[in-house]
Amino acid sequence: MQSSRLLLCSSHSLFGAAVTITLPPCLRFPPHSVAIANSTSSLIRLRPLRSTTSSSDSPQVPAMASKDSQVQDPRIAGISSAIRIIPDFPKPGIMFQDITTLLLDTKAFKDTIDLFVERYRDQNISVVAGVEARGFIFGPPIALAIGAKFVPMRKPKKLPGEVISEEYSLEYGTDKIEMHVGAVQAGERALVIDDLIATGGTLNAAIKLLERVGVNVVECACVIELPELKVQPYLDVWLNLFLTHGREKLGGRSLFVLVEGEGA
Ligand SMILES: *[C@@H]1O[C@H](CO)[C@@H](O)[C@H](O)[C@H]1NC(C)=O
Ligand SMILES: *[C@@H]1O[C@H](CO)[C@@H](O)[C@H](O)[C@H]1NC(C)=O
Repeated sequence: MQSSRLLLCSSHSLFGAAVTITLPPCLRFPPHSVAIANSTSSLIRLRPLRSTTSSSDSPQVPAMASKDSQVQDPRIAGISSAIRIIPDFPKPGIMFQDITTLLLDTKAFKDTIDLFVERYRDQNISVVAGVEARGFIFGPPIALAIGAKFVPMRKPKKLPGEVISEEYSLEYGTDKIEMHVGAVQAGERALVIDDLIATGGTLNAAIKLLERVGVNVVECACVIELPELKVQPYLDVWLNLFLTHGREKLGGRSLFVLVEGEGA
C-alpha cells in the first residue's frame, strides 16, 4: 500500500512533529525519498526508494534534484532506518520523527555526524550555530570535529546576557530566536544546524540573525527534511492542498539534508 498521507510539520517546537492527513489518490506523493548531497551543489535528492513516479505526481523539487546517476552513500539507509516514526504523538494525526532512536544507534549517530563533518571540515567554518533544541544535539559534535565554536540559537528569555533576536511567523502567531551579542564576529563563516526542516521558519530566522551581524552563512544542514503541506484557509481542505518545501523560505541559500522524512 502506497503512502496516502502527507506530512505537516512544525520545526520550531522542541518536539517538532509532523501532522499526517489522509489524501485522495490524485494528491498522493511518493513515500520515503532519501536525499543525500555529496557534491558541490546544494542538494542531491535521490528518487524515492520504493516507487518510480512521473514528475507530475512528484512534490515540487528543485530542478537540480534529479540526479539518478548519484550513488547513495551506504550510511544513509542506516540513518534513515534508525529514525523512529511514532504515529499520533504528541496528538492524533501527528507522525512524530523521533531522533532519540538515532542517538541510541552508535553507528547511525556517528555516521550522521561524520557525513556532516566530511562535508564541512575543509570549508573554513568557524561557527556552528545550533537551533534549539535538537540543533544542540547535532551541532556540538560537528563543531568540535571541524574546529569551530558552537553558538546556541535559543528560544526567547533563555540566554542570560545581552541578546539580539529575530522574529518568525508560525501558522498562528509568531515566535523568536535569540543569540548572545558578541558570540560571533562580522566576517566569520557559519553553518546552521537543526535536526529537521519543515516550514523553514526557524532556520530562516537563524540565518537572518547571523547575517544581521555580518556573518556569512555557508549552508544550513538538517538530518531530516519534511515536505510542508499548505492548507488554504477558508476553502475545502481536500481540494486545496499545496505542497511546498521549507527550503523555499531559505531564500535560495544552500540546504543540506541527509534523509527525507516519510509519512507512512
Ligand atoms: C559522491 O558519492 C560517490 C559514491 O559514494 C563518490 O564516488 C563521489 O566521489 C562522491 N562525490 C563527492 C563530490 O564527494
Ligand atoms: C577563513 O575565514 C576567515 C573569517 O572567519 C577569513 O578571515 C579567512 O580569510 C578565511 N581563510 C581562508 C583561507 O579563506
